[in-house]
Amino acid sequence: MKIFKHLYYKFFCNKIIKYHIDYKRDKCDDRNILESVIFPFILAEFDPQSILDIGREGYQEFYNDFFTGRDLWTLDYEPKHEEFGSPDKHIVDSVVNLSKHFKKNQFDFILMNGVFGWGLNDEKDIQKTFNDIFEILKPGGIFVLGYNDDIVPLEKITGLKKLRAYKFKPLKTNEYVCSNGNHTYNFYIK
Ligand SMILES: C[S@@+](CC[C@H](N)C(=O)[O-])C[C@H]1O[C@@H](n2cnc3c(N)ncnc32)[C@H](O)[C@@H]1O
Repeated sequence: MKIFKHLYYKFFCNKIIKYHIDYKRDKCDDRNILESVIFPFILAEFDPQSILDIGREGYQEFYNDFFTGRDLWTLDYEPKHEEFGSPDKHIVDSVVNLSKHFKKNQFDFILMNGVFGWGLNDEKDIQKTFNDIFEILKPGGIFVLGYNDDIVPLEKITGLKKLRAYKFKPLKTNEYVCSNGNHTYNFYIK
């Protein structure tokens, strides 16, 4: 029964968060939405076996725990960030080079939070990156994009237009603006 899976992953993710986070966060804060709404729902609903998390900072090293036992890849162009990534499957390179490292239809779930507009800024690079994301995502796979400023309007990004907007049930929308700042999550399915 799916309901039990959802309850299980809520509990599983909350346990990880409690262990690593010792301050109170607003319910609709972007980090809270990612860790305690987006992750548990994706784990329960899609059971992704192959995952790519693009852009890793030190405060995210514990994100590996959410995907234990799964084929988790991480990528960041900053060599110092290697230690925050997947212990055995981390790539140091720009996101623009995704197609050099990954096969077509490789991933069930791709997350790119805070990279578009935060290092990935050049329009040509943006178009190439999102086209590659489309290619390496499996049919039926889910892509979550988190960003503050859509420095290139999303409707002008070819790779995104090839994906379908996905209404993310717990948030009742395919585009959710968090309560803090203007951080937004967009949900897509291939
Ligand atoms: C603002 S942080 C966001 C980190 C994280 N994904 C999050 O959820 O908070 C941006 C991260 O993306 C990486 N980054 C920025 N531009 C990149 C690019 N073009 N290719 C690969 N990594 C990039 C930075 O090194 C940094 O670790």
